[in-house]
Amino acid sequence: MSILRVNGGGRLDGVINVHGAKNSVLPILAASVLSRSETVIRNCPDLTDVNAAIKILRRLGCRVTREDDTVCVDSREMNRFDIPDKLMREMRSSVIFLGAILARAGEAVLSMPGGCELGPRPIDLHLSALRALGAEISEENGNIVCKGRRLTGCRIDLPIPSVGATENSMLASSRCRGTTVITNAAREPEIWDLQRYLNKIGAKVRGAGSSIITVEGSDFGCSAEHKVIPDRIVAATYLCCAAIAGGRMKVTGVIPRHLETVTDALCEMGCVVIPGDNDIYIRAEDKLKALKPVITRPYPGFPTDAQPPLMAACLKAEGTTAFVENIFRNRYRHVGELRRMGADIRVEDRIAMVSGVKSLSAAPVTSTDLRGGAALVVASLGAEGTSEISKLHHIDRGYEKIEEALASVGADIVRTENTQ
Ligand code: UD1
Repeated sequence: MSILRVNGGGRLDGVINVHGAKNSVLPILAASVLSRSETVIRNCPDLTDVNAAIKILRRLGCRVTREDDTVCVDSREMNRFDIPDKLMREMRSSVIFLGAILARAGEAVLSMPGGCELGPRPIDLHLSALRALGAEISEENGNIVCKGRRLTGCRIDLPIPSVGATENSMLASSRCRGTTVITNAAREPEIWDLQRYLNKIGAKVRGAGSSIITVEGSDFGCSAEHKVIPDRIVAATYLCCAAIAGGRMKVTGVIPRHLETVTDALCEMGCVVIPGDNDIYIRAEDKLKALKPVITRPYPGFPTDAQPPLMAACLKAEGTTAFVENIFRNRYRHVGELRRMGADIRVEDRIAMVSGVKSLSAAPVTSTDLRGGAALVVASLGAEGTSEISKLHHIDRGYEKIEEALASVGADIVRTENTQ
């Protein structure tokens, strides 16, 4: 079993280039079945979730090749419409294939996604959107069987701006008869990136980035090339690393406006943060200060995915910071691990009160989920001594070679086999 060994206390200095966004590339890979042609996807990160999506595409009969960060998908010969349980379980967000397969094949069979480390991950909004378009959905032996050869455009009013349900609605409606209007759509940058990709392969989608997305159904499909947007959460995590460790760092290959709520918080903590065209410079020299309440909300609010790393950056800040988690119920599982390092955190329901401590001490800790694991990396960089972080498969779902990126800016971090 691999672990990360992190000897904290040193400053960070240098440049980290941020890889493509996991949450963008996954729906785009699903959408590639709609091209009915060959598409080239660039800036594709090397992550276990991405590899799981590639396996699903191959199972569906697509030819997929990968060279460095470029993935080519040829979906001309796609000949299946089902995803077996084993592949569904490899990636939490595989439900995104539902809308894409349905639109391409008129039928889709997926095993029911289970709960995940963030608590139950319901898909009721995905299913009611597809039903509104005319799909017939039944559950048979733990499978979702979805049929809809003649889907018809309609109005889909999402009760909450779910990212996945917005994406599935865009995918499923792209080839149906007539026009679909999605209201209360999620506004995340990754939705905008999916729209860009869909339009490149011939679909007619507009409005992404706002709360109303309009999809004119058509019989489209052509080859295209697309560069995935940078991963704003990975960028946020590395900025949090610099904040707690101190030093001067630049993250490059980013879109700074996608990270404004995070960079505003880091400024409020006392860091100097200077956004450039495609980079963000951070200087953390002084003692960090606590923040006014950090409340997670759908984009453009503070991202739930950046809550754990920012919480870790606050552990030694002067004063108390309140975090309010509004998106996922079970998103404080990293707190118990942070306490092992000496953190002072009280949790009551959706609120976590983080009181800054003078110092953190290294400890053996276990990743509880993807961003919770990232929080442990941030905290260990600010702790005295050598921490050992286990269950790296969580972190590897969303961070490409995190130890190499951080070592390149001077962190004392290695991935090693746990021999105990
Ligand atoms: C996506 C992101 C994830 C991020 C989240 C919120 C991907 C691959 N993942 O997840 O990293 O943390 O957005 O920004 O893009 N909900 C329902 N019923 C549904 C769907 C969602 O009740 O049918 C609830 C969820 O339980 C959650 C909330 O809606 O409480 C938001 O979830 P959603 O926006 O759908 O998140 P994901 O698309 O799963």
